[in-house]
Amino acid sequence: MRKKIVAGNWKMNTLPAEGVELAKGVVAGRGEVCSCVNFIVCPPFTHLAMVAEALKGSDIELGAQNCAAEAKGAYTGEVAASMIAALGCKYVILGHSERRQYYGETSATLNKKMEQAYANGLTPIYCVGENLDEREAGKHFDVVKAQIEEVVYNLSEEQFKNLVIAYEPVWAIGTGKTATADQAQEIHAYIRKVLAEKFGAAAAECPILYGGSCKPANAAEIFAKEDVDGGLIGGAALKAEDFLAIGKGFQK
Ligand code: PGA
Repeated sequence: MRKKIVAGNWKMNTLPAEGVELAKGVVAGRGEVCSCVNFIVCPPFTHLAMVAEALKGSDIELGAQNCAAEAKGAYTGEVAASMIAALGCKYVILGHSERRQYYGETSATLNKKMEQAYANGLTPIYCVGENLDEREAGKHFDVVKAQIEEVVYNLSEEQFKNLVIAYEPVWAIGTGKTATADQAQEIHAYIRKVLAEKFGAAAAECPILYGGSCKPANAAEIFAKEDVDGGLIGGAALKAEDFLAIGKGFQK
């Protein structure tokens, strides 16, 4: 049985005190959702210590949105994987399309970040996904395949057992346009096949999340698909009520 995961990517939103309130709201309503759902919140770096405190005593896990490619040293403005792990993070989002697009993150950088994450006991949530031009040109399969081959294929079998993949079509992120449940299933099944080519049967255990305008109104239909194991949620994760309602979308 694969893990069911609903992860909130807060991006660069909320002030620290607002983030604490949001986390408390998630904790307060968590009991209404099946305990089979694993909730993760990923606030900005500045909020991690305070949010960790707010999550204490609950089963909601903490993640960061990024980490440095280096272990430590003279890298002004960077935050090391060891630092976020020390604050209680269990997860780190890596390779989000906004990092690839606006901050020039390449597979070479992401390989180093993945190593840092594993070296510090973190589970990466590795994001893949095509942009609109690539989808319209029918290249989406090749794009995600390359994003997996160039990074995930470098992991050891042991590391691969601690990996979450998020498929996020760039054209669906923050746009209100969601992939249809069938489109999500089609590419999730393909991703699993690409993973199986390298890691064999272990691919059946890897959670693959859908991301991109996922909300309470469409989560149930998407999560019902065989190869969709949950969601990476942006906008809708900023309201505790909506975030929890997405968790209720699990009926399988
Ligand atoms: P969205 O973002 O839910 O606001 O589309 C998802 C993401 O980028 O992780």
